[in-house]
Amino acid sequence: MSATGILRTVLRHVPDSLVPGTRPKAPPARDGRHGHIGAPVSRLDGALKVRGAALFAAEVPMERLLYAATVHSTIARGRIASLGTTAAEAAPGVVLVMTHRNAPRMKAPQAFGEGDGVAGSNLPVMQDDAIHWNGEAVAVVLAETQEQADHAAGLVSATYEPAAAITDFADAQTRARSPGSVLGEPAAVDGGDAEKALAESQHRVDLTYSTPPLNHNAIELHACTVDWVGGGLVVHDATQMITGTAGSLAQVFGLKPDQVRVLSPFVGGGFGGKTLWSHQILAAAASKLAGRPVRLALSRAGVYRLVGGRTPTVQRVALGATQDGRLAALIHTGVAAMTAHNNCPEQFTFPARHLYAAKAVRLEQKVADMDMLANSWMRAPGESIGTFALESAVDELAHEMKIDPIELRRRWEPERDPTSQCAFSSRHLVKAYSDGANRFGWERRDPTPGRQRDGEWLVGMGVATATYPYYRMPGVRARLRLDTASHLTVSTAGHEMGMGTATVQAQHVADRLGVPLEQVSFEYGDSLLPAGAMAGGSSQTAGTVAAVTAAAGALVAEMLKLAGNDSPLAGLKADDVVARDSGLAHARDPSRRESYASILARARRDGVEVEQGGPVPLEQMKYSMHSTGAQFAEVGVNAVTGEVRVRRFLGSFDCGRILNPKTAASQFRGGIVMGIGLALSEEALLDPRSGRIANPSLAEYHVPVHLDVPEIDVMWTDIADPQAPLGARGIGEIGITGTAAAIANAVYNATGKRVRSLPITLDKLL
Ligand code: MOS
Repeated sequence: MSATGILRTVLRHVPDSLVPGTRPKAPPARDGRHGHIGAPVSRLDGALKVRGAALFAAEVPMERLLYAATVHSTIARGRIASLGTTAAEAAPGVVLVMTHRNAPRMKAPQAFGEGDGVAGSNLPVMQDDAIHWNGEAVAVVLAETQEQADHAAGLVSATYEPAAAITDFADAQTRARSPGSVLGEPAAVDGGDAEKALAESQHRVDLTYSTPPLNHNAIELHACTVDWVGGGLVVHDATQMITGTAGSLAQVFGLKPDQVRVLSPFVGGGFGGKTLWSHQILAAAASKLAGRPVRLALSRAGVYRLVGGRTPTVQRVALGATQDGRLAALIHTGVAAMTAHNNCPEQFTFPARHLYAAKAVRLEQKVADMDMLANSWMRAPGESIGTFALESAVDELAHEMKIDPIELRRRWEPERDPTSQCAFSSRHLVKAYSDGANRFGWERRDPTPGRQRDGEWLVGMGVATATYPYYRMPGVRARLRLDTASHLTVSTAGHEMGMGTATVQAQHVADRLGVPLEQVSFEYGDSLLPAGAMAGGSSQTAGTVAAVTAAAGALVAEMLKLAGNDSPLAGLKADDVVARDSGLAHARDPSRRESYASILARARRDGVEVEQGGPVPLEQMKYSMHSTGAQFAEVGVNAVTGEVRVRRFLGSFDCGRILNPKTAASQFRGGIVMGIGLALSEEALLDPRSGRIANPSLAEYHVPVHLDVPEIDVMWTDIADPQAPLGARGIGEIGITGTAAAIANAVYNATGKRVRSLPITLDKLL
């Protein structure tokens, strides 16, 4: 048993009261006077965004700024034979050309999973003539303007000595290996003899699904503006990991952690891609070489060359059911592409570990090493593509058994987590299905495919389960400052990449400490602030709320101490009081109260400041904690052209308490839109001969546009999770999960054709 397994087993037998992190202190009640939590508060940063006053990393002004352009290798593996930079160096405005010959010496960054690393790969950046993927940066041109840099980059000439490279996923699979573990979980899970159980099942399906490589396409291109100040490095970066990026850059440049400052107040979409890649390291190195600040803003094609995305997979799902519809065998295995320079085996078997009660299971994932840009996180890595395969197969089995797919899943609903055996902290998937089915009009679906028609269009409905784990990362800290005007400032190095972080945290603090929303400021996006949560794993809200809750407790205790013996609060402990009306009051005798301003005035203080970290997140070890949901799609498939259109979509989610319905609805919808892209149009075309991505642009890599996206309805159970801070599990990623399967299942219902290879393009339907 793994260390995690042992800890889980021990925790299961320990009462909540002894486990830090479990049963977090009850959220403040909605008493009519405050109650911002759960209200549809508009984004506090909305006005800044609309006025263009929110500065992004590529917009930060600097004196004597130089602009960078990158030159990329055109082979997948080998060495640089020659590199001609003279013409570029002589071009107008060019200050220098950096290559491996003159780049400063730097340590290789640590990749995810190595120490505190947050880099996409652990390859050294521009330190020698070796090439590791098609698109690796071989030169950086610095010039006085972006246009001059771009022009000169085209004048750099390179020749190569290619070496044999693995650039064909089909070929790479013949050498697939175990990744050892997957995000700390075992790569293989076996319970009983699943193959035998499958063979003996009355009903069975045994199917192969495939998903393509996908690229990141956040609206804001990856960019940084960097400067060296007094021997230290200042980086304005588009990142969702401020604290980790600062630490990793310090390690690369041999600096002390406090010598690197990363600022990232606004990020125009991250989705897992806004982490540490080579461009920030290149910009800092080039700036050091030039002795001037540098801006490196990647082009759209540059993002495809330097920022990794979702890995391709081939997955087998085999399901066996008994006559009465119980799940006798659940097999989900497969291979994902990876590189030797990262450790990101996309966790596509994770949904099958937690969703359904099966008598026998076999889950195993392998990786196939390729000479490509390191793959990385991309919104619900694993769960998005894993649910495509699993939830398509469930639909195929339901059709085989002539049973409604929602009813089939209801029969498989487990009492405990099927693989960890932990109790669920809170799980209302069956309710999410029934609520969603009612609202969507599921009973109008004709289970026989190909019978619904609307003119040229074949119409069908499909459903699938959405699922994403609850994560809360350790090490998150928050500082709270209260001043004499009862203004509260919360500070933590967190992120606002469009999801409403500042808004929800301000709602929380206003309620927690009993002040009007306008009296709260939230400071974030700067590595000088207390270590913040990364904006990843849909975990930022939980991590931040836990730290802020701890800080608020410390602040109340400090205020009671300051209140002293002359206060109506004299002798009361933190547990005796409630925060309201910009002060503290006895919980049972509200006549005993004093305002924050009065306490500070009597103590002759101009403010109080406290800093705390949240408890160690043991709740996620003791309990199985997952957001779940039911995705409903109605599609039209054109009988003449094969074109697929999503006509209606509903996501019905069980994610704990919803803290802000306005920002939450937007998160769910955004995930679903990305799921529509995954289902129907997105695909990075990796040329198997050269390993080069052949469609590095929005013209050829199709993300959904407005005309591709129908009205998306979203709803939620809003049942608080007793183990999660504020009762809220994550919502940022779950929307993309299950979406592709719901659409694929609807396409089958419309046409009678199963497409098991994403994206479902019209050629696969004709
Ligand atoms: Mo998410 S892929 O953890 O940004």
